[in-house]
Amino acid sequence: MGDALHARGPLLCVVGARPNYMKMAPLVRAFAARSDLPTAMLVHTGQHYDVAMNEKLFADLELPAPDLNLQVGSGTHAVQTAEVMRRFEPVVDELAPSCVVVVGDVNSTLACSLVASKKGIPIVHVEAGLRSFDRDMPEEINRLLTDQMADLLYTTERAAADNLAREGIPRERIQFVGNVMIDSLLRHSARAVPPLETLARAGIAPGVFNAQGDFGIVTLHRPSNVDQSLALSQALGIVRDVAERLPLIWPIHPRTRGNIELFGLSSLLTGARIVLLEPQGYLETLGLLAKARLVLTDSGGIQEETTALAVPCLTMRDNTERPVTIEQGTNTLVGRDRKRILACVDEVLATGGKRGRVPELWDGRAAERIALHLSGWLRDRATRQAEARA
Ligand code: UD1
Repeated sequence: MGDALHARGPLLCVVGARPNYMKMAPLVRAFAARSDLPTAMLVHTGQHYDVAMNEKLFADLELPAPDLNLQVGSGTHAVQTAEVMRRFEPVVDELAPSCVVVVGDVNSTLACSLVASKKGIPIVHVEAGLRSFDRDMPEEINRLLTDQMADLLYTTERAAADNLAREGIPRERIQFVGNVMIDSLLRHSARAVPPLETLARAGIAPGVFNAQGDFGIVTLHRPSNVDQSLALSQALGIVRDVAERLPLIWPIHPRTRGNIELFGLSSLLTGARIVLLEPQGYLETLGLLAKARLVLTDSGGIQEETTALAVPCLTMRDNTERPVTIEQGTNTLVGRDRKRILACVDEVLATGGKRGRVPELWDGRAAERIALHLSGWLRDRATRQAEARA
């Protein structure tokens, strides 16, 4: 397959799991708005497949239905990654894309990058250069390897370029553009669903709140917190203690719900002021986050969304790949340190907690910047290739 064809083929945009959708939606929109870019095609690997983790989010984000769904489903990391690769390769062969656009750090991000890399197709990584420096996290391995293969690395915060430089990535491949996830947040904030409506839809009476109508949000799904019985029971004990100070709403990830049952820990949640919900849509989640007194999470994206919303975030991890949320935003790392977490909760309830500012270029226009830059890059590349052939 010739390079000239590559230069004209579609922009092959890959999503696999929930945190990819809010990053890809503004990109697909910004690509479509530029007539000097090839058509964008959306491929869903099928890593996430539950309706609650998919269709509703696509609709909320105004993300068009995928052109292709590879339906890989769950599996061990090796099986999932290999299966994405096996199914993505013929797609790349058939479509001869101009480039493959991947976002974030999930297994699908790495798998599709590997396929593109072996085929000599340019890889565009959006949200490049984030590092937790914790190689026990599957996402850290996905980030490191994807960035090694990527031709264009678009970053969300300044520290990312330093991380990439340390790993030998040439500076000219790196562009600081801001945060596409915040593009989605700003675009859809006005449509956020009020928390009472979300609870009512789930059949829950508003009486669960305290007199001021205050509540906190919990989300936990990282293997380090939920895959081992001891860690999960510690985490549930902490959540229970926090709920004595502030009623909590917890939209629970299927992996976490499954493990609570598997390890026989459901009793830790009974009787506490904790409302468990199914995974929520994007507009429901935005509404819940925006109105929360505080958020207790181990998510990557929510650390950034709470910073953009100026809501205090206690991150139940020992590290973060998103240091700007600590340095400038409302985020605090608390691990599974019960005493520290309760002290932080008390402080938030007494004083409102950490006051941050919105980081540089988290202004709702990151995807536009990427589309503009990518269009110039593809044009220059096509020119270079034409010159090389002449
Ligand atoms: C994945 C990402 C993680 C991201 C998270 C957001 C990797 C390595 N991890 O983790 O970075 O923060 O998505 O949700 O890519 N399951 C369902 N329905 C689904 C999907 C998953 O029930 O639609 C259950 C299955 O039991 C599955 C388990 O969740 O085995 C884990 O799913 P998987 O896609 O492997 O990883 P996540 O934990 O969702």
